[in-house]
Amino acid sequence: MPTPLTRTLMLNGRRLAVSVDDGAEDLLYVLRDRLGQHGPRFGCGVSQCGACTVLVDGEIIRSCVTPLNTVAEGASVETLDALDADGTPNPLQRTFVEKQAAQCAYCVNGIVMGSLGWLRQRKAAGDTSVPSEDEIAAFLSGKSSASTFDYICRCGAHRRMIEAIRQAAPEVLA
Ligand code: FES
Ligand code: FES
Repeated sequence: MPTPLTRTLMLNGRRLAVSVDDGAEDLLYVLRDRLGQHGPRFGCGVSQCGACTVLVDGEIIRSCVTPLNTVAEGASVETLDALDADGTPNPLQRTFVEKQAAQCAYCVNGIVMGSLGWLRQRKAAGDTSVPSEDEIAAFLSGKSSASTFDYICRCGAHRRMIEAIRQAAPEVLA
């Protein structure tokens, strides 16, 4: 039996309440269909591709498999939609464009958010060294100690994405 739920979130720095008929509705659909956030995308729906990645209280989350009722009241939710809210692109957004690190770009929103979360976590842990190409490749393939999430790019643009992430890293880690 669905259980209705109202949850207050800090969505991209803005406090708001969202109500759903079924608290088990996944965050991806809440964000896209109810809150107008089109940064997170539907790719697989089963936590395998990373297209739906957002940050919840700084944690890298697959929103397609994250029921709203598991998101804490008052949680901070960050999506790609507001990364350039002040009119300046996030360093990762800028370097992805500079490196032309995409073909169709369907996967990019999730990869930018995952990479941003990962670099911030490194910084919070006191590691401000720029990750090597191998470390970035390990992160994107879910083989790093930081994350077991794999980020799938069906166009095979990972090579340029690794360069873009490496180029943006000093600014994100500063
Ligand atoms: S849509 Fe969520 S991981 Fe693929
Ligand atoms: S650029 Fe097309 S799926 Fe990644």
